Amino acid sequence: MTLYFQLLQFLHVIGATVLLGTGAGIAFFMLRAHLTRDARVIAGVARIVVTADFVFTATAVVVQPVTGYLLARFLGYPIFDGWIALSLVLYGITGAFWIPVVFMQIRMRDLVEAAVREGTALPPRYHRLFWTWFAFGFPAFAAVLAILWLMTSRPVFSFF
Ligand code: HEM
Repeated sequence: MTLYFQLLQFLHVIGATVLLGTGAGIAFFMLRAHLTRDARVIAGVARIVVTADFVFTATAVVVQPVTGYLLARFLGYPIFDGWIALSLVLYGITGAFWIPVVFMQIRMRDLVEAAVREGTALPPRYHRLFWTWFAFGFPAFAAVLAILWLMTSRPVFSFF
């Protein structure tokens, strides 16, 4: 075990905890804010959520494949076979659901801020966006959980 490997592994595990923690945390706080039905509360939380996703999730989204690739290279694991290849497919699925979610959050924040400014009720578009955002979280989070399982149990199988 070299210092290089330990450092990579440490960064990779930090990235995993940030992805999981920020994902679950954002879902919880947004849902709780939404359930208050108070546009001011929702606007405040949505603002923080948009920033948190850019600062924490986006950083971890980049760090994870980079450190993962370097770990695999160091350990001599094939990237495009077995549990790593399956993880990459699942990572793509997570991204396919997470990227639209980022834009939905921005749109929701803008709609709620406008409602607060103009003193109007939350528009139907906000409610549609919220439930789509909520639904997208399930496959994204399930795929991250599956990756975590693959990363820790490293089952031996081959696609070829
Ligand atoms: C996206 C591309 C990814 C690649 C190429 C990759 C690759 C790897 C490799 C090669 C290891 C080292 C395994 C070993 O020590 O034998 C590892 C460990 C680990 N990975 Fe990933 N990974 C990726 C994404 C992720 C994601 C998204 C998560 C979690 C959300 C994650 C969580 C972990 C954890 C917790 C370990 C430590 C496992 C242990 O030491 O028991 N990885 N990963």
